[in-house]
Amino acid sequence: MFQDTKLFLKEALRNPRMVSAVAPSSPALARAMAEGLGPGSGPVVEFGPGTGRLTEAILAAGVPPAKLTLFEMNEEFVRHLRHRFPGVTVVHGPAQTAPDHMGATAARVISGLPLLSMPHPLREDIVGAAFQVLAPGGVYVQFTYGPKSPLTPGQMVRLGLEVGHSRKVWGNLPPARVLHFRRA
Ligand SMILES: C[S@@+](CC[C@H](N)C(=O)[O-])C[C@H]1O[C@@H](n2cnc3c(N)ncnc32)[C@H](O)[C@@H]1O
Repeated sequence: MFQDTKLFLKEALRNPRMVSAVAPSSPALARAMAEGLGPGSGPVVEFGPGTGRLTEAILAAGVPPAKLTLFEMNEEFVRHLRHRFPGVTVVHGPAQTAPDHMGATAARVISGLPLLSMPHPLREDIVGAAFQVLAPGGVYVQFTYGPKSPLTPGQMVRLGLEVGHSRKVWGNLPPARVLHFRRA
């Protein structure tokens, strides 16, 4: 755990814009992001896993490694994730290219991406890509530190989405809100 935090901090200092946080998510936030997942929940995709704090919680919930695909842009994190989670597919590339790598098969996309620090068009591309890899009925789970959704009402309409679940996790620095997006 200490080694992970050290690597996270090193990469956050080297790539502050890409990582956009100084520490991994807390175990409480990771559990909240993985809530409802289990051995039978179907394929899961994770965007922006970093050192794997949410990955750990997804696997602990019972998702088999073979059913989990990660999209991470940072090369050091990719190397670390491949070593730490054998059997999990780790794609070294941006989340918004996910539809180039897989069809609409995922039951859930769990995102630890710093959407609030990204320009609005990129946020829309990323969430749009998530819904291209989600099967019908699939859910996009995103945490955010802000009081509002990272998508504007106009983007929600364009993407045909609604937010169906919102939970505040106080045990994280800073406290975070977990949002579940579904097709409206
Ligand atoms: C705030 S950190 C979150 C790390 C981890 N999910 C957690 O909650 O502790 C954001 C991560 O997203 C990655 N990232 C940023 N933009 C990305 C993109 N477009 N596609 C994939 N990964 C990206 C960064 O390299 C970093 O690992």
